[in-house]
Amino acid sequence: MASAEQTNGTGLSHAAQVALGGKPANWVPIKEEPLFSRRKLKIICVGAGYSGLTLAHKIKHELKLTDVIDLVIYEKNPEVGGTWYENRYPGVACDIPAHAYSFVFEPNPDWSQFYCPGPEIESYIKRTVRKYKLDEPIQFNSKVTEAIWDEEAGKWKITVDQNGASKKDEADILVNAGGFLNKWKWPKIDGLFDFKGKLLHTANWDDTYDFTGKRVAVIGNGSSGIQTVAALAPKVQKLVNFVRNPTWISVNIAGDKAIDGHNFKYTEEQKKQFREDPKALFEHGKELEASVNNFFFGMYRDHPAAQGLTAIVKSQMAERMKNQPELASKMIPTWLPGCRRLTPGDGYLEVFEEANATMCWDAIEKFTETGIKTTAGEEEFDLIVCASGFDTSWVPAWKLAGRNGVTLDDRWKGGDPEAFFSVQVDGLPNYFMFNGPNAVISHGSVLRQVSWTCDYILNWAKKIATEDIKSIDVKREAVDDFNVWSQEFLKRMTWADECRSWYKNGKEKGQLTGVYAGSMAHFKNSLENMGAEHFDVRWNSSNRFRYLGNGEGLTDLHGLGDLVYYLNI
Ligand SMILES: Cc1cc2nc3c(=O)[nH]c(=O)nc-3n(C[C@H](O)[C@H](O)[C@H](O)COP(=O)(O)OP(=O)(O)OC[C@H]3O[C@@H](n4cnc5c(N)ncnc54)[C@H](O)[C@@H]3O)c2cc1C
Ligand SMILES: NC(=O)c1ccc[n+]([C@@H]2O[C@H](COP(=O)([O-])OP(=O)(O)OC[C@H]3O[C@@H](n4cnc5c(N)ncnc54)[C@H](OP(=O)(O)O)[C@@H]3O)[C@@H](O)[C@H]2O)c1
Repeated sequence: MASAEQTNGTGLSHAAQVALGGKPANWVPIKEEPLFSRRKLKIICVGAGYSGLTLAHKIKHELKLTDVIDLVIYEKNPEVGGTWYENRYPGVACDIPAHAYSFVFEPNPDWSQFYCPGPEIESYIKRTVRKYKLDEPIQFNSKVTEAIWDEEAGKWKITVDQNGASKKDEADILVNAGGFLNKWKWPKIDGLFDFKGKLLHTANWDDTYDFTGKRVAVIGNGSSGIQTVAALAPKVQKLVNFVRNPTWISVNIAGDKAIDGHNFKYTEEQKKQFREDPKALFEHGKELEASVNNFFFGMYRDHPAAQGLTAIVKSQMAERMKNQPELASKMIPTWLPGCRRLTPGDGYLEVFEEANATMCWDAIEKFTETGIKTTAGEEEFDLIVCASGFDTSWVPAWKLAGRNGVTLDDRWKGGDPEAFFSVQVDGLPNYFMFNGPNAVISHGSVLRQVSWTCDYILNWAKKIATEDIKSIDVKREAVDDFNVWSQEFLKRMTWADECRSWYKNGKEKGQLTGVYAGSMAHFKNSLENMGAEHFDVRWNSSNRFRYLGNGEGLTDLHGLGDLVYYLNI
């Protein structure tokens, strides 16, 4: 028989060579399986917060993929919950209505209030995990420290620290559900650790510390600082809130659906109705989710909703500070509402009407052994709370090296994080993120968006498993085009105004990385219709169609199956 090399010289096409018994470079033996036979894939997911748990539910229950997907979730904490496990500061709460901040698959008739406190959300997450056995794939106290792409094997090689012991694992697909607000950071202030009193960060609270009657400083007026101040002030001897920038204390999100715009407790009767009438529960959730999603238009500069929001937030803030004109002159920003993440802050401004609370605008020079020294002098404290936020660079705390050893540090060197629809980054094959750069996390239902992102990831997983694919990697030019378009669009939004915000990775101007360039529907429609042309696909063999297999469809069963599966009444 003539070899491929020998027939090559005849000028015949590869196909013609094969017909004559040749074996050109893209010849492969027949895979003795029907078309679309799946190979089993292993997915490793980092993190068991809302995102990782939604993935676990999709695989186990909604899509029933456990026979083809082996899921392992590594969680560094001893419990599930992520944000709601870690953030335990006094006053921690969700400012999105609880019925629009629930797992999509587990509406909760028993939410106690319109906006729920953090501990209630944590209990709900734990309860849901128990009900659906979502902890089966989770390994707790397991911190992923390294993930390296092995090009030859087409696998991610993972290192995990399990209580000091190093464990190795590998996966076909790596999912980062590690949270976009999970790396809390201390403020850059001289002498931070010279302070001999109690020093806490809001995201690393010490439940055993009794702050009652203490002299307390709170650094920062982001959402965490605002909630902490409002909760602590009535219980402490004195409270000083150190701030250096104005901020909008806004009306409540979806406040038009609350009572007089404020939080309220659901009555037992309402909860009973929600329990007994799933349709009523659904309609209530839908109404609230529509209101949350409408927030996008409140951020759309020239939209009537944005103009209305600015007017109402301005007048409400002025009204709430009518007895504190000096505070009002400093606190009301010149930039547009939304430039920084809006915080409703019920009770926050009112705190400063009390004799025990002040807001300090003098620049902090340093921490001392006993307190804080500002340009105006030194003041003593028992407790200093740093509500100084998170590292929002989107570079994981663990080593992540993709194709040709590329890391996100390298990839985003000197610039800002750029991803593809918040889910993928070029150079990191078979890698997916929840809530990556430019995700829909600030103007729509996060849990709904997370569910769609799961579908997107699992659609890729199915394609990889059924089409004999080794790796998919988004093309660099696709990421570049998407980000160019996004930044142009985002100029229309109030987020692009000039103010320091984590939406701009802690900068005052420049690229917006903390917000998605479009509405919730825009994100869903885009993800659902993503074309394969934006991806570099590599297969397990030299022929992309090896998956066509033995010429049979999955239902044929070599002639013994349903040969007309497509005919139904
Ligand atoms: C104080 C606070 C209040 C918030 N309030 C709201 C709100 O009102 N509305 C809203 O929409 N959003 C809010 N958010 C945003 C919130 O983070 C998201 O809504 C949501 O909880 C994110 O879920 P997640 O699973 O993606 O991430 P997370 O909840 O952050 O979970 C990430 C998980 O990954 C784990 N992990 C990280 N690194 C590793 C590693 N190397 N190895 C193993 N495990 C790892 C973490 O331990 C954590 O359990 C708030 C955030 C904070 C910090
Ligand atoms: N929905 C909720 O109820 C809720 C609650 C908490 C958190 N969150 C989420 O978490 C995000 C982060 O909120 P966050 O409040 O934790 O962080 P943040 O918004 O980043 O605020 C950090 C604060 O710390 C101040 N700060 C940082 N370093 C400082 C320094 N060296 N000296 C003085 N001040 C310093 C900042 O001041 P400057 O502004 O002057 O830099 C800012 O006021 C929110 O935007 C939101 O998405 C939500």
